[in-house]
Amino acid sequence: MRILLLCHAFNSLTQRLFVELERRGHEVSVELDIHDDVTVEAAGLWQPDVVIAPFLKRRIPHAVWSRWITLVVHPGIEGDRGPSALDWAVQEREREWGVTVLQAVEAFDAGPVWESIAFPMREASKASLYRNEVTDAAVRGVLRALARIASGERVPRRRGVDSPVRGRARPPMRQADRRIDWTRDDSAGVLAKIRAADGVPGVRDTLLGAEVHLHDAWPEDALRGAPGDVIAHRDGAICRATGDGAVWITHLRPAGRGDGAIKLPAMTVLGDRARHVPPAPPPAHDDDRRTFREIRWRRRGAVGFLHFDFLNGAMGTAQCGRLLAAFRDACASGVRVVVLMGGVDFWSNGIHLNVIEAASSPADESWRNINAMDDLTHAIITADGVLTVAALRGNAGAGGVFLALAADEVLARRGVVLNPHYRNMGNLYGSEYWSYLLPRRVGEDGAREIMRARLPMDADGAHAAGLLDGVLDGDAAAFAAAVTAHAESLAADPGLDSRLAAKRAGLARAEAHRPLESYREDELARMRLNFYGFDPSYHVARYAFVHKRPHSWTPLHLARHRDRALPRRAVTT
Ligand code: COA
Repeated sequence: MRILLLCHAFNSLTQRLFVELERRGHEVSVELDIHDDVTVEAAGLWQPDVVIAPFLKRRIPHAVWSRWITLVVHPGIEGDRGPSALDWAVQEREREWGVTVLQAVEAFDAGPVWESIAFPMREASKASLYRNEVTDAAVRGVLRALARIASGERVPRRRGVDSPVRGRARPPMRQADRRIDWTRDDSAGVLAKIRAADGVPGVRDTLLGAEVHLHDAWPEDALRGAPGDVIAHRDGAICRATGDGAVWITHLRPAGRGDGAIKLPAMTVLGDRARHVPPAPPPAHDDDRRTFREIRWRRRGAVGFLHFDFLNGAMGTAQCGRLLAAFRDACASGVRVVVLMGGVDFWSNGIHLNVIEAASSPADESWRNINAMDDLTHAIITADGVLTVAALRGNAGAGGVFLALAADEVLARRGVVLNPHYRNMGNLYGSEYWSYLLPRRVGEDGAREIMRARLPMDADGAHAAGLLDGVLDGDAAAFAAAVTAHAESLAADPGLDSRLAAKRAGLARAEAHRPLESYREDELARMRLNFYGFDPSYHVARYAFVHKRPHSWTPLHLARHRDRALPRRAVTT
């Protein structure tokens, strides 16, 4: 089929649909929702069999849905309506939720239902549920609806429904609905409220006299204080006492600054206001009590697992430094295999663009951050006493993908989306030794093509292209279990010593052919121009990205309907 994806942004769900549809042989083009006239023009040019709206913030023009079958993905159970579907579900701690694929009609979320897919809820943020459960269910629902359309159905026929209709129209969730009463709300309630508002808009609150939005909350089992008090800080996050315990909040967004406010580590935003807050030392690695820790090391026999759960996969200079130290400790701990687990939602998205944006010199901070990423990548490439495995449970983008390629083996969970390119960020050249790591996996031509196309790949596509060594099924827990079994078999393999010897010899050969340092120098020479040169594209693109500026056009590599070279279908009326 010929499919037009109409979306507010080419986000994770839309990217996943894009790759899944393409792999099934559909012709897919993308139009970002910029203006009704442009949308109508896009549909006219592409003449789609089906328009799919996976993520929209505005109404679909009548001229589109009345002419082409238009499927809307709603992140709610059948019957649910309104723009805060997931927010309500998380805040009210629903045990089961779902995704409904509806046909677009005049009123929002009110059209006939094509498919409705249920899933059990997990204790996680709205954004995390969206990237995992909602995305998986949406892909299944859309594929099922398309199969029915392909077999001739034009209007969905009512069929047996999996679960009784429970949904209803709900109003947009307001800050008044999200308000936390720190003297009364228990930790579970506070966590639910902050998670329901994450990644956007956060919960509006007053913290040490500052008006802020709260983001990224973690439970805390040990620390206690008077309800509402800020009782500790660790790695940029703060711990605040609740009615029955305490929670950590890692990021804040200053309120009332309109466009100017971006999400930053809590201690950065609080500054002097938090000078009296005592530091809390990091817990021991084998302490299983719940607390905030971005980096966690776990050992099972001869295998070590390094978890690094940085918010949004963004890795600032200090975070890279802490992870490098933890990686070195891991390599020196006597294990034979080190598994780099990343976080649940993202493995890594490269340098921390928000921290860079807020720095007094974004160019200098970009330089420091990319060098810290390079130091970490170099340490992984050259760790010749252990076998390294990158295990991607969550998505990875830009430098985060190449950091993963530094490992000896790279595995991903089926459904993970990778963006192995940099140019979308204002023509950034990129570093992380990509010019060494990518060609050694896909060849020079393959590397050039991946960088040029700057398209997302799902795990299967990346595996087929040679970027990954394996794809494993299952949710995050099943994936972690499969990775553990695999890593243990690697460590127990009698051939491991010769594999490590081959690794050392391979590194020495590569170094003799061209020193790793020279790849880094060449990449950084180009990055220096991105950061300090005459062309400000990277700074402009970063500003637009972190401030979430709406798109004003659809990039041509996505808007294939605008590519004049493509054959057009005759316009039918
Ligand atoms: N630095 C800071 N924040 C980042 C980030 C980065 N490198 N990458 C992603 N984020 C944030 C986004 O701003 C967004 O924030 P929110 O919680 O306020 O909504 C959140 O992570 C999720 O990102 P989003 O773009 O909505 O996720 P996605 O899954 O739809 O898209 C990417 C994933 C990787 C395609 C996209 O996030 C991206 O292009 N990131 C930038 C990658 C990059 O250029 N890194 C720098 C070069 S190494």
